[in-house]
Amino acid sequence: MPPKSSNRIALATALVLGAMTALALCPAAAADNGSPWGGNYFPNVPLVTQDGKTVHFYDDLLRGKTVVINFIYTKCGDTCPLETAKLAQVQRLLGERVGKDVFFYSISIDPERDTPQELKAYADKFHVKPGWLFLTGEKKDVELIRKKLGQAARPGENALTGHSTTLTLGDEATGQWMQDSALDDPKYVAVMVGDWLSSWQHHAPGTSYTEARIVDSDKGAYLFKTRCAACHTVGHGDGVGPDLIGVSSIRSRSWLTQFIEMPDKMVAERDPIATALYNKYKQVPMPNLRLGDPDVAALIAYLDAQTRERNAGVSPKKTSQAK
Ligand code: HEC
Repeated sequence: MPPKSSNRIALATALVLGAMTALALCPAAAADNGSPWGGNYFPNVPLVTQDGKTVHFYDDLLRGKTVVINFIYTKCGDTCPLETAKLAQVQRLLGERVGKDVFFYSISIDPERDTPQELKAYADKFHVKPGWLFLTGEKKDVELIRKKLGQAARPGENALTGHSTTLTLGDEATGQWMQDSALDDPKYVAVMVGDWLSSWQHHAPGTSYTEARIVDSDKGAYLFKTRCAACHTVGHGDGVGPDLIGVSSIRSRSWLTQFIEMPDKMVAERDPIATALYNKYKQVPMPNLRLGDPDVAALIAYLDAQTRERNAGVSPKKTSQAK
């Protein structure tokens, strides 16, 4: 994951270059607020929502709105499901504001395969609420939007697998735009979208720093929070994926390691447990997050410790189905 600051620099560069082009081509392009990023910059191309409704990118989705935009495709087996699950956490944090003054858009970069029906099924798996549109359209139109947001694939790069995990956050009315990693802490993203973009007009008084939780210094805890917690809990019930309490006692260490590193390969090779899990959790596959051995070992140690803590004195929830 690229550091936030470099992401923002990349955005600033993309937008400044874009702005220069827009201004050079059309000196009178500036919107009322003085922002060069209005209807003359963003393409007003048609897109189709997960409910089959046709909308226009600038007129219907951007004009006068605060928006969060990312690019995904439903067949993506690595970071897109994590991005979507994290964005679902941001949606929960922003609550009723999503759909009122903040709008989320996930645009498919595989529009030929991602029909509105596919996108609807995908959105449902992540318990997406109103105010978040999943969009498909003509490939050339999607490519144009990608380019204008500084998110086109680099030359020679696979346009699907090479897509960046970037969120574009913006307020069309004030002309403030920024980019962030879609894998960032959902609380941070929610503050940026909900408060920063509206110059803190909506800011509710927060809690004191003295109440702040100490940041997890444990590597396993940190990895779990940033890469897994959007879909899993340990002892708090199923999320998009299963509750992982007790998982390190019901599965062998080697199975767990292999599965966390390469779940897609295990399903492809018809490992019986991986296949059963895949079938049970209907089509949201556990993503391959390209973690290495040391990271996976730290995660398993964390799952072990959490399970021990929660089960202290209590018999483990899951018992002897070990492989
Ligand atoms: C986008 C959601 C998502 C993310 C992120 C995710 N998982 Fe999963 N995970 C799932 C789903 C869905 C399943 C069950 C279906 C399957 O296995 O394909 C699963 C299954 C599992 C299982 C097997 C559970 C069992 O009963 O054997 C383990 C272990 C697991 N995940 C660990 C992790 C860890 C560790 C991380 C973080 C590095 C992680 N997952 C990140 C969705 C996710």
